[in-house]
Amino acid sequence: MTTAIPAKGPSGTGADYTEKIPNNVGLHEDRRLQRALESWQPNFLSWWQEMGPALPTHDVYLRTAVNVGREGWAHFGHVAMRDYRWGIFLAERDPDRRIGFGQHMGEPAWQQVPGEYRSELRRLIVIQGDTEPASVEQQRNLGATAPSLYDLRNLFQVNVEEGRHLWAMVYLLQAYFGRDGREEAEDLLRRNSGSEDSPRILGAFNEETPDWLSFFMFTYFTDRDGKYQLGTLKESAFDPLSRTCEFMLKEEAHHMFVGTTGIDRVVQRTAQLMVEQDTNDAGEHGGIGLDVIQKYLNFHYSVSLDLFGGETSTNVANYYTAGLKGRWLEDRRKDDHKLTDDAMSVDALVDGEIVQTEVAALTGLNTDLRREYISDCQSGVNRWNKILADAGLPQRLKLPHIAFNRKVGAFAGIEASPDGEMLSADEWQRGRGQWLPTDVDKTYVRSLMQPVHERGKIAAWIAPPRNGINGKSFDYEYVHLA
Ligand SMILES: [Fe+2]
Ligand SMILES: [Fe+2]
Repeated sequence: MTTAIPAKGPSGTGADYTEKIPNNVGLHEDRRLQRALESWQPNFLSWWQEMGPALPTHDVYLRTAVNVGREGWAHFGHVAMRDYRWGIFLAERDPDRRIGFGQHMGEPAWQQVPGEYRSELRRLIVIQGDTEPASVEQQRNLGATAPSLYDLRNLFQVNVEEGRHLWAMVYLLQAYFGRDGREEAEDLLRRNSGSEDSPRILGAFNEETPDWLSFFMFTYFTDRDGKYQLGTLKESAFDPLSRTCEFMLKEEAHHMFVGTTGIDRVVQRTAQLMVEQDTNDAGEHGGIGLDVIQKYLNFHYSVSLDLFGGETSTNVANYYTAGLKGRWLEDRRKDDHKLTDDAMSVDALVDGEIVQTEVAALTGLNTDLRREYISDCQSGVNRWNKILADAGLPQRLKLPHIAFNRKVGAFAGIEASPDGEMLSADEWQRGRGQWLPTDVDKTYVRSLMQPVHERGKIAAWIAPPRNGINGKSFDYEYVHLA
């Protein structure tokens, strides 16, 4: 039942799968690096055993990256997860690539790390790298309650690719940052999501993902933060980082697809129950009520907004000027790509009021990225509202106000309602149960999480997907349980 991966991808850029660590970076030409990575590999595998998917499986129908070319970059087949080939892939190199922004604009992209930017670049890579294994840890127990084999397979696909993204960052650390990089690579396996002593670096990656509604919200909102962070690193003057992120974005698209269509299917089932049962409360008929969906959305959206950092940041201004981290779709921006003379408005709290203030464009880059992210998030909400509208229902979902439930940035010290109304501590305490998931909501959602591990069957709280994976039908045997 296990299909072999072709030893070489379809074109010259493919990885050699007969190697211990499949890669398209010519690892065999650098024995030192190869040894360093080969000695990290067993530590990765024991981390995966301990912190990776807990549900025992025989094999899973997975996509494995084999190539970076435009066509045929992935191979699909049943593999035992412990034998998954976590490879190292960089997008093809453009030998003429030049730096697209900041003070080095127009100079050739860097193939090595400039000494003066070493610690900043290492930090950026570590922060990105830390999120990858964190999400695997957060999702560790979800297999036991999967609503179908199709969903189970998607969970595992996301998990193995986040594992590969960790490899991608560890490769950069080990290849370009010497001993410091090797230590950071070990630390990426030492920190754990939610750990008291050594938690993951960013808040949202220490939250629990205890149920599948949370998983879909996480892959919609939090993986989407990843998309935007990777988008800024893809612009980096440090070419190996740029090429690594470009390839990761390709895989990331599927993670967001899982989130988008997962929430589609929850909303669709809820709408169906509301119409069939002529009720506003799908929760009374085995579905997830729209109010609960809205609360989960409020939570995941607001913690993901925090991931973009404060409204203004001199660090980020410096990263931009140095060429380490660009803007989302930098080359489509119609300005000088230096921003030294530009201004922009950012959200701020002035005399207890939520207002906009003008700041130097360079210091407002976190806000710029967060705004791109917010408008992208809105597109999902529009989709879900169309499902409600098509069912003939008047209810709608919405993104809460930017000041709602924030722990980072200008609004960290205040409380605001989802409509953006400022609240006293008392008003917040009284209202929060209507806006964020309560213990009752969470317990109810968890009560629905009964595993459906039978081929072609699906749990009652979610609609089946319109299509299967890679042209297979929904009732395909995506996973063989152990
Ligand atoms: Fe990732
Ligand atoms: Fe992801």
